[in-house]
Amino acid sequence: MQANQPSRSTSNSALFDDTLPWYAKMRREAPVFYDAEQQTWFVFRYENVKQVFANWQMFSSKVPQPPEQTDFTQSLNLVDPPKHRSLRTLVAKVFTARRVEALAPRMRLIVDKLLDRVQDQGQMDFVRDFAVPLPVVVIAEILGVPIERHADFKHWSDGVVNKDLTASRELGDYFRELIQQRSGKPSNDLVSDLIAAHEDGETLSAQELVDFCIVLLVAGNETTTNMLANAIVCLHESPSAYKRLQNEPALLHSAIEEVLRYRSPVQSIFRFTKVDTQVGDQTIPAGQLVNLCVGSANRDETKFERADEFVIDRDPNEHVAFGNGIHFCLGAPLARLEAAIGLRAVLERLPNLRVDPTATLERVSPVFDLHGFKSLPVLF
Ligand code: HEM
Repeated sequence: MQANQPSRSTSNSALFDDTLPWYAKMRREAPVFYDAEQQTWFVFRYENVKQVFANWQMFSSKVPQPPEQTDFTQSLNLVDPPKHRSLRTLVAKVFTARRVEALAPRMRLIVDKLLDRVQDQGQMDFVRDFAVPLPVVVIAEILGVPIERHADFKHWSDGVVNKDLTASRELGDYFRELIQQRSGKPSNDLVSDLIAAHEDGETLSAQELVDFCIVLLVAGNETTTNMLANAIVCLHESPSAYKRLQNEPALLHSAIEEVLRYRSPVQSIFRFTKVDTQVGDQTIPAGQLVNLCVGSANRDETKFERADEFVIDRDPNEHVAFGNGIHFCLGAPLARLEAAIGLRAVLERLPNLRVDPTATLERVSPVFDLHGFKSLPVLF
């Protein structure tokens, strides 16, 4: 980073109070900025971030990947049309809102089981005991991973998130085995439906199937974990919003959207320029990495009134926490449902929930691409 910017420390307390002033300064003074050290362009303003998201013709999702990474290269989020179109059409056929909604009763049971374990203790690590296991178990159920493999599955998916290549390979092998089993004997799960799905005679190749299963974990687990923990932190920081939500539970949906805006779990999304392109008053040459600062866009004062306040009933709330355009988050309905069911149960069953005042909160990411907390000790 360049000298005239406020420095950003690597870990801190509840607020990301080092990053937010930097975002605000950059939106004002250098909204499209080239960082020579990182050889990356940064885009800070809402309007520009949205423009880049919308323009897949010029801003490719095929960003350069480490050479050792083989399982993910064809995954949905890293390909452009026409490949993206055919993959997305196929998977959207089976990853439907109906499938997600049908999962609600199971999700309630999973949530209750997690809360049963801690309810009598009066305290828990909200991240370890609730926000981490919930999305892992839910996605395992959706995919059709049998219950006796859930522990392995959790171990591998943690490994994938932590870029442990052995775990990634083992998970890839496990998915190949699962796909083989379901090919002979379809069941009522996503993997079976993915095998059966086709579009104009096109089906998913075995590698595409494996990549898609893995991308669901990579894209879905840590983001959802962070969203859940960020929600508790937002309510903790804004006691009046917390009180209102307890009195008016119908506000939960707008509260979740505001959490996504105010503490966006994904702070950065990358693109790669195909041609020279104008963004704001800068021309970004072809072949450059572009960092879309989603977390900054969602705090842009020219788009959101009282942008730096947590407004529990904000409406409209056109945040870009799930992206925009053709790569818009496929899992958004699932994430929203997990938040609604998970947080409702937490609020109902642990009514006096509060962040442990003695805890020092540490962020998940030393850089600012993800926003969440490593642990979140709470009392109730
Ligand atoms: C709060 C939780 C989540 C957040 C904040 C989030 C955020 C995002 C964002 C910003 C994108 C756009 C990426 C881009 O434009 O390059 C994206 C794409 C995607 N997300 Fe999510 N996500 C969440 C949960 C999930 C879940 C639960 C799943 C599935 C289980 C999921 C699956 C995907 C997939 C497959 C894509 C790629 C879509 C495409 O390229 O067409 N996400 N997500």
